[in-house]
Amino acid sequence: MTTPELNSIPNPFDFRGRTAAVTGASRGIGEAIATGFIRGGANVIALQRKPVQAELLALAEENGVSVTHVPVDLGDEDSVSAAIEASLALGAVDILVNNAGTQIRHDTVDFPLTDFDEVWAINGRAVFQLCQGFARPMLERGDGKIVNVASLLSFQGGLRVPAYAAAKGAVAQFTKSMCNEWAARGVNVNAIAPGYVSTDMNEALLGDAERSEQISVRIPAGRWANGEDIAGAVHFLSSSAADYIHGVVLPVDGGWLAR
Ligand SMILES: NC(=O)c1ccc[n+]([C@@H]2O[C@H](COP(=O)([O-])OP(=O)(O)OC[C@H]3O[C@@H](n4cnc5c(N)ncnc54)[C@H](OP(=O)(O)O)[C@@H]3O)[C@@H](O)[C@H]2O)c1
Repeated sequence: MTTPELNSIPNPFDFRGRTAAVTGASRGIGEAIATGFIRGGANVIALQRKPVQAELLALAEENGVSVTHVPVDLGDEDSVSAAIEASLALGAVDILVNNAGTQIRHDTVDFPLTDFDEVWAINGRAVFQLCQGFARPMLERGDGKIVNVASLLSFQGGLRVPAYAAAKGAVAQFTKSMCNEWAARGVNVNAIAPGYVSTDMNEALLGDAERSEQISVRIPAGRWANGEDIAGAVHFLSSSAADYIHGVVLPVDGGWLAR
């Protein structure tokens, strides 16, 4: 039996009345993040290249919320600017999740600089630009949550992925820079660092049975993550339960970094 006082404490994972903008909600981790927001009662702005998938639209209808598509190519500065403007024109955005990302693998000695530029543009520069653009009205209101999706390669170098590691390292660092400037102004900026997640991004690793098994046995949890394993940490950092959390890069890695 709960007392009336305890009952008046709000459920921190109730996102009703909030709007969350999520990049790359079309598949993988981003789709799981958008799904959780919808189920928690948030309206979602899906910043993605393709139209919103039918499943997400149906789920939104079922939950009495909206999913609005704002098209964006994160490799293009003008497209990112236009997407920020279009999103903010819809009304106040309470939560920004910079989830979208790309991966290109080559031996470092032969890594084409054009590929380096592409990975940096999508995984680094666009994330910074989106943080700036969405933060401006959040700072004016004195309220907002930004969650960036970093990586274990924010901490480690990886193999054959120098551009990705460089960009994810930068995301972790500017998350902390932003925290230092914006925390006292009501805007929480944090990041998560997912471990190995079974999404399209890891098609090559998952297709290599030996390498995939080597990775699994190195993970204390004994298995790869799925999108939902990762999304929960994003919802937590987007919620009022995380009001006093600023500038963390939270590993969600089945214990990988503890090993
Ligand atoms: N999977 C992992 O093991 C892992 C580990 C650590 C961190 N992460 C990070 O988690 C995030 C999500 O990864 P994921 O595994 O879900 O990858 P994924 O399944 O490959 O999905 C990538 C998402 O990013 C979008 N995207 C890529 N390039 C884009 C561009 N130029 N413009 C707009 N959208 C673009 C994709 O959109 P389209 O559908 O249009 O291609 C898609 O929605 C990324 O930041 C990734 O680096 C993943």
